Amino acid sequence: MSVIVISGAGSGIGRAIVKDLSHGNKGRKFVLLGRNKDKLLQTASECKIENRSWIFDSDTTDAHRIRELIYQNKLEEEEYEGIIANAGIIKKNNYNEDDIFEEVIRTNLKGPYILVNEFLPLLKNSSEGYRSIVLISSVLNRLGVSQISAYSASKSGQIGLMRSWANELAQYNILVNAVSPGWVETRMAINTLEEIAENQGLEYNQIKDQVLREQMMHKMALPEEVAALVSFLFSKKQRSITGQNLHINNGAFMS
Ligand SMILES: NC(=O)c1ccc[n+]([C@@H]2O[C@H](COP(=O)([O-])OP(=O)(O)OC[C@H]3O[C@@H](n4cnc5c(N)ncnc54)[C@H](OP(=O)(O)O)[C@@H]3O)[C@@H](O)[C@H]2O)c1
Repeated sequence: MSVIVISGAGSGIGRAIVKDLSHGNKGRKFVLLGRNKDKLLQTASECKIENRSWIFDSDTTDAHRIRELIYQNKLEEEEYEGIIANAGIIKKNNYNEDDIFEEVIRTNLKGPYILVNEFLPLLKNSSEGYRSIVLISSVLNRLGVSQISAYSASKSGQIGLMRSWANELAQYNILVNAVSPGWVETRMAINTLEEIAENQGLEYNQIKDQVLREQMMHKMALPEEVAALVSFLFSKKQRSITGQNLHINNGAFMS
């Protein structure tokens, strides 16, 4: 039985990833991390993994709490298959006294840095053959959108982490990649569209249509599609993809 650690496991893309990775594979255990315990318990229950998961109700930037939970749950004794840094927030930032620049950078960039580094010694020591680290980044590591420079910077920074770790960890057979979605149908996307609609004095559906017209496929992806890509990265079918920024964005741009 090997463990996969995932942050932001209580909703959206994170929950879909846990569903996909646990489905039909009873040999996997999970560390489910997020700030809201009830949402994590809901994921465990929906995926029927209550007896093979640990609930880490922690902020992803709280290294002390994560270390304490690893110790309390004797997680040094487990074998590890990988780490998925998925937790994230999106907020507009403005350079004034209420600037949330640091909050976004702390959550989206320092969070993955801490999560991966806290579990890395355990992953390195595992004899699981090839192992994986996946960062859930965003189309906005390539595209720039007005007023969310902190989010774009954090998601671009994740690509720097990913490239460096891919190089550093190849010697341990650890593959490191980023998955960069465009619009994905989750609460985060819906909230963002609602906010744009409100700011522009338009209806939600008007804004949604306007935004999706800019994508070649005129639609959002489903969380399950992102999950399937992450599952492929974890599958035994491949052991050669590393150091890559994999885009899943309905043709928001061509690479
Ligand atoms: N939806 C999209 O269109 C889209 C597009 C591109 C990239 N993404 C990325 O995909 C990832 C997942 O987003 P989603 O769409 O699934 O949205 P979501 O449902 O809002 O998921 C975000 C998750 O992150 C967790 N989280 C946020 N801050 C945290 C913190 N400080 N510590 C621990 N957990 C934290 C939240 O749980 P708690 O609140 O319980 O902590 C939540 O479960 C994010 O990194 C996001 O940037 C999403």
